[in-house]
Amino acid sequence: MEALEAILTRRSTRNYKPDAVEEEKLDRILQAARQAPSGGNNQTNHFLVIRNREVLGKLIGMTETAFAKMEIAEDTYASLKHAINASKKGGYVFCYNAPVLIAVANRRDYGNNMADCACAIENMMVAANALDLGSCWINQLRWLNEEPALVEYLRSLGMKADERIYGAVIIGYPAAESGLPNRDLMAQKGNEVTFID
Ligand SMILES: Cc1cc2nc3c(=O)[nH]c(=O)nc-3n(C[C@H](O)[C@H](O)[C@H](O)COP(=O)(O)O)c2cc1C
Repeated sequence: MEALEAILTRRSTRNYKPDAVEEEKLDRILQAARQAPSGGNNQTNHFLVIRNREVLGKLIGMTETAFAKMEIAEDTYASLKHAINASKKGGYVFCYNAPVLIAVANRRDYGNNMADCACAIENMMVAANALDLGSCWINQLRWLNEEPALVEYLRSLGMKADERIYGAVIIGYPAAESGLPNRDLMAQKGNEVTFID
């Protein structure tokens, strides 16, 4: 697929087949992540690639427990409100049961942590689309990136002491009948452009 087409037709997938992602495809997606631009070319992203169902299950349970303890305020972000309400009810699965979750850690005391993470995640989502895989940005681990139990668990998985999670992405084969990601162009309601010639 041509690069611009892969960018323009990337849409979020929230329903996945359980099928594993082939090693070669995952390698190419991770290469796209690691070749992303970074402030000062510092390359401080750290990609935690999670495919183990037990680990994913543990993260699902831990995020639900953490959200269920949170209270909703008037100005709570709509998606966070949904996560809290769904977790209080029970059965909240933040990563839509995708077979791969890639959590992007970066240094907690580094000003470009979020920006560098975003560049890598966008590269991964575009690469996934080019490889006929679905993907979706997953923000819950960032919202909870100072939750002590989660920090400790992520450290046991390899996250370093001075790192926190700034974003995550899920990847897998869409559960659509076609087996392909939805590639409809999105209705443009914002993202204004002003030309100053
Ligand atoms: C910073 C950021 C955080 C997001 N967090 C989530 C999330 O936690 N869960 C989710 O289902 N989608 C999440 N998304 C996906 C957006 O909802 C999605 O990109 C947007 O609705 C546009 O749809 P599209 O990706 O299909 O073009 C996130 C996207 C971004 C850029």
